[in-house]
Amino acid sequence: MFAKKIISWYLKNKRDLPWRNTDNPYYIWLSEIILQQTRVQQGLPYYEKFVENFKTVEALAAANEGEVLRLWQGLGYYSRGRNLHKTAQVVVREYGGRFPDNFKDLQKLKGVGRYTAAAIASFAFNESVPAIDGNALRVLTRFFEIFDPIDSPSVQKNIFDIATDLMKNVDAGNYNQAVMELGATVCTPKNPNCEECPINIECKAFENKSVSQIPIKAKK
Ligand code: ADE
Repeated sequence: MFAKKIISWYLKNKRDLPWRNTDNPYYIWLSEIILQQTRVQQGLPYYEKFVENFKTVEALAAANEGEVLRLWQGLGYYSRGRNLHKTAQVVVREYGGRFPDNFKDLQKLKGVGRYTAAAIASFAFNESVPAIDGNALRVLTRFFEIFDPIDSPSVQKNIFDIATDLMKNVDAGNYNQAVMELGATVCTPKNPNCEECPINIECKAFENKSVSQIPIKAKK
């Protein structure tokens, strides 16, 4: 029920964000790189600018670095801008301009870790693999009332496995967007809006009033 309830909530309540209206892996990759360490509202105009200036991965690869970094200005972390450009060139040179079409191969690209690979694989190719960013991690640990530290790789692995099970038989792209959207807008770090949550009845942390204690981080 978890997945179906969240998806139907999402379809009614989602923010209309431009990268949600495409299944082009290049645009999805672009949005995810821009949104790494950047808030949606801040990232939006950059996404629009990059899409407008570089309509294809070939166009981005062919740009000179100064031009790419000039458009990146204000986003911070210039290494991300530089890597964006380099990865575009790798995709053109080594992959013939086509992004890898699966979770495993996407992770071979620089700057594309487990989360970003899962986001691209599910949004663009509908591969059933969970995209677990900080928002999704908060939703899942609260729902199952997981008090284990989320910065532990073995705990992350367990959560990844649980999340993989949860998304069986549902639309992978919408499901992943939905869990992240719930975390971003309802199941927030502070003052979560549990009254409006579509899965509050089944949420263990809500039931046991431990929502404000989860997730737990070991290292500080
Ligand atoms: N942050 C990172 N990826 C996102 C996405 N696809 N939608 C909304 N916020 C995001």
